[in-house]
Amino acid sequence: MLEEWLAPKAAALESRGLTRRLRARAADERLIDLAGNDYLGLASDPRVIEAAADAVRVWGTGSTASRLVTGTTALHEEIESSLADYVGQESALVFSSGYLANLGVVTALGGPGTLLVSDEHVHASLVDACRLSRSRVEIVPHNDVDAVTKVLAERNEPHAVVMTESVFSVLSDAAPLTELAAAARAHDAVLLVDEAHGLGVTGEGRGSVHAAGLAGLDHVIVTMTLSKAMASQGGVVLGPALVRAHLINRARSFIYDTGLNPAACAAALAALQVLKNEPERPLAIHTATARLASACDVPAASGPVVSVPMPGPRETVQAAELCLAGGVRVGSFRPPSVPDGISRLRLTAHAGLTDADLDQACDVISRAIQDVS
Ligand SMILES: Cc1ncc(COP(=O)(O)O)c(C=O)c1O
Repeated sequence: MLEEWLAPKAAALESRGLTRRLRARAADERLIDLAGNDYLGLASDPRVIEAAADAVRVWGTGSTASRLVTGTTALHEEIESSLADYVGQESALVFSSGYLANLGVVTALGGPGTLLVSDEHVHASLVDACRLSRSRVEIVPHNDVDAVTKVLAERNEPHAVVMTESVFSVLSDAAPLTELAAAARAHDAVLLVDEAHGLGVTGEGRGSVHAAGLAGLDHVIVTMTLSKAMASQGGVVLGPALVRAHLINRARSFIYDTGLNPAACAAALAALQVLKNEPERPLAIHTATARLASACDVPAASGPVVSVPMPGPRETVQAAELCLAGGVRVGSFRPPSVPDGISRLRLTAHAGLTDADLDQACDVISRAIQDVS
């Protein structure tokens, strides 16, 4: 029965060059990595590793239950207060992933009396959060502040949440945060900014909301992940303490989920400490991004990602394979993971790249693009 059901779906994907496959990486692999999101190059830093190992010795291997039962440790509280302090927010609440943080905050604020206004390019976790929320959802054109203002002004719902990313995950372009915050303020709405790709990267590491002077405002909420620049795992919602208290009582992905592993909290805390002590790391990301963008003949964006449009999904996969053969791992993004339907190579720069790495990567990638185009 499953064969008749699923095999035609698999064949349809295959015929369009859209099949996704898992590829396990080896622990001793020696590739130049431009596909992961370890933006500060800290996932294998001995200080971060040691902090995680220490946490396992002290707290054991799991958090043992929901945050509301026995799943909150001193490490959860420490990462919450340290991160909130670093990015200028009143409070923070840690979830077990960035995906669940987005689901939690949107569903806890959503419902029939709340309009959700979503940029058309937001991450799948925010899209899914909208679907779960039972709210009316308006999807607006990318970075279009006038469209946001119009739907806010015309709404009947008493509440509204405008959702965007500070730095978008695929195209790596920036949202007009100041204008969106002003539009939200003028229409009694909340601005929710996903800083998954901003933390550790933009605003000298503190993210784009902080850089724009919007951190700590009473109508601005931020979500972050600990899985990218923080070299760990986990998600965070940051904003007014009132929001934190509401989420503890209403966010189902917080209440009915086992708390984040203590080792992940400790790793993120150690990574945050490195970021504070070594402020040159975010700058190294931007230097690497500029070099990669120039080699691929695309403009450098404000975030850590270099997005290279390709002729089609097959060419994208072929180019990624050629890069791999040349010792460089790059991401290949195809529909439905691309907001505009254009398949692309997605290169993520990180602070751990040496000059020699960048020379090799630029050479290998530019040749691969030429070969398949
Ligand atoms: C913009 C954005 N938001 C949320 C997430 C989800 O974060 P996590 O991987 O921690 O679940 C990601 C990435 O995976 C992302 O790119």
